[in-house]
Amino acid sequence: MLFSTLLSALAFTAVASGAANSPTVKRSVPPGFVTTKGTQFELDGKPFAFVGANSYWLPLLVTQNDVEHTFKTMSDAGVKVLRTWGFNAINGSELAGAKESGLTYYQVWNSSSFSLNAGSQGLERLDNVIETAGKYGIKVILAFSNNWVGYGGSDLFIQWMTPESTTHDVFFTNPKIVAAYQSYVRTIVERYKNSPNIFAWEMLNEARCSSDTFPSGPSCTPASGAQSLLKWYKEQSDFVRSLDPHHLITTGGEGHFFWTNPRTYWFDGQLVSDYNWNGQAGEDFDGNLALPNIDFATYHMYPQSWYTELDFPGSNFSIANWGLEWIDDHINAGNKANKPIVLEEFGLGGLDNKTQIYPGWVQHALDTKHAYVLFPLRCSVIVLMPCLPLHRGIMPWQFGVLGLTEDGGNRIIKYADAINHGASPNDGNTFYSNQTAVWNIFTRAAKIQAQRSR
Ligand SMILES: *[C@@H]1O[C@H](CO)[C@@H](O)[C@H](O)[C@H]1NC(C)=O
Ligand SMILES: *[C@@H]1O[C@H](CO)[C@@H](O)[C@H](O)[C@H]1NC(C)=O
Ligand SMILES: *[C@@H]1O[C@H](CO)[C@@H](O)[C@H](O)[C@H]1NC(C)=O
Ligand SMILES: *[C@@H]1O[C@H](CO)[C@@H](O)[C@H](O)[C@H]1NC(C)=O
Ligand SMILES: *[C@@H]1O[C@H](CO)[C@@H](O)[C@H](O)[C@H]1NC(C)=O
Repeated sequence: MLFSTLLSALAFTAVASGAANSPTVKRSVPPGFVTTKGTQFELDGKPFAFVGANSYWLPLLVTQNDVEHTFKTMSDAGVKVLRTWGFNAINGSELAGAKESGLTYYQVWNSSSFSLNAGSQGLERLDNVIETAGKYGIKVILAFSNNWVGYGGSDLFIQWMTPESTTHDVFFTNPKIVAAYQSYVRTIVERYKNSPNIFAWEMLNEARCSSDTFPSGPSCTPASGAQSLLKWYKEQSDFVRSLDPHHLITTGGEGHFFWTNPRTYWFDGQLVSDYNWNGQAGEDFDGNLALPNIDFATYHMYPQSWYTELDFPGSNFSIANWGLEWIDDHINAGNKANKPIVLEEFGLGGLDNKTQIYPGWVQHALDTKHAYVLFPLRCSVIVLMPCLPLHRGIMPWQFGVLGLTEDGGNRIIKYADAINHGASPNDGNTFYSNQTAVWNIFTRAAKIQAQRSR
């Protein structure tokens, strides 16, 4: 009956696409601010689709030439959005070394409180990155902190502020830590809230119940009933919205699902429930997307390192196909929530792997169309409802930059990240402009995205 006339088909389509959790009255934003419209991004009333870059190391650079050169390289490649770290915390015992090496740091923990470094080795470097981004037509996704230990991430907050703690999830629940997090978030948001160069605020890089150095507590995951991450996302996104009515807010999460019937895979002759779909990591992707102040959601993709145990004969696992399935599941979740999603990090080791597998992933992530479960005909009723590709974003981890000059081209930034003969840090996933087969996959995609942004 629903399909008896063209009119009723149209009406049904309207209902299906309107079944959204997003508010019906959209925020109006100042000129130059990115906003959302259904599952797409919009900039000044036009669709905004992009290829973006990840560069956590950019605010660690000390010379303006290198900062400009990095933005120029990205802008020449067609990059429209940069994601970087808006955090760098150290403690009192690291201060002398940081000053000596020129390490960028924004906060110092002195055993009883954090003090801000708004100076020339601190937030002025971040100011410069955000200002220079604008000069090259690039908008910035700024993450407030890190699930991992790197760059003064959450584990260090735990070690420094609540040394008695033994689990990672206290980062999300301890009032003292939450207050310190919010105090820093307030500083950053107040500093850049009027800047059109900010694309979005990101609450945490890759939130999980566990981390590098601490396990999860027993009551953190969705299955435990506690939903610590979901509650934290709600609290923090509401907090950020109270400070800034205009900029987009996102999670920074890896995109783990909490499904009633999680996907499974074969391991050692057994069918096992998959970590990425069963809520064990702590995330509930669909739950996050439904929060009123989460404007879009992010997901990451590293099957090569997530499924090392599956590389054995007899496994039906293929890295390329797994990626396509992961992309589909997120696209469907975005469609259901009627919000955009961004493939915010993905990477593979080895030039051949990158060259062979990225084209399929990129095309799938950018071109897969609406696929409403309720109304599969939507895309085939060509005349009524032409099935246009959606305007989304992808951000490989990571565009590299050659020809950096600072410190003789060999400055150890922190941890093991080094600028090597002028090449930006390479964790195995980095690709450079001299690796044209891979580089061109993304510059071509960027051109297509630019055509869609009109
Ligand atoms: C400072 O942090 C480092 C880890 O980054 C740690 O090894 C050291 O013990 C900390 N010092 C103090 C005084 O907390
Ligand atoms: C840490 O900094 C705070 C605020 O500046 C100050 O009141 C406190 O005395 C300092 N504590 C230590 C141990 O240096
Ligand atoms: C592997 O097999 C399982 C069980 O039949 C199936 O659910 C899963 O989708 C397959 N994975 C891939 C990547 O083909
Ligand atoms: C390329 O992918 C294969 C299959 O996952 C893996 O075994 C190999 O180590 C990868 N190459 C590099 C250099 O990472
Ligand atoms: C490209 O640059 C990187 C970084 O300097 C280097 O490792 C690589 O050998 C260069 N050439 C090719 C073809 O990858």
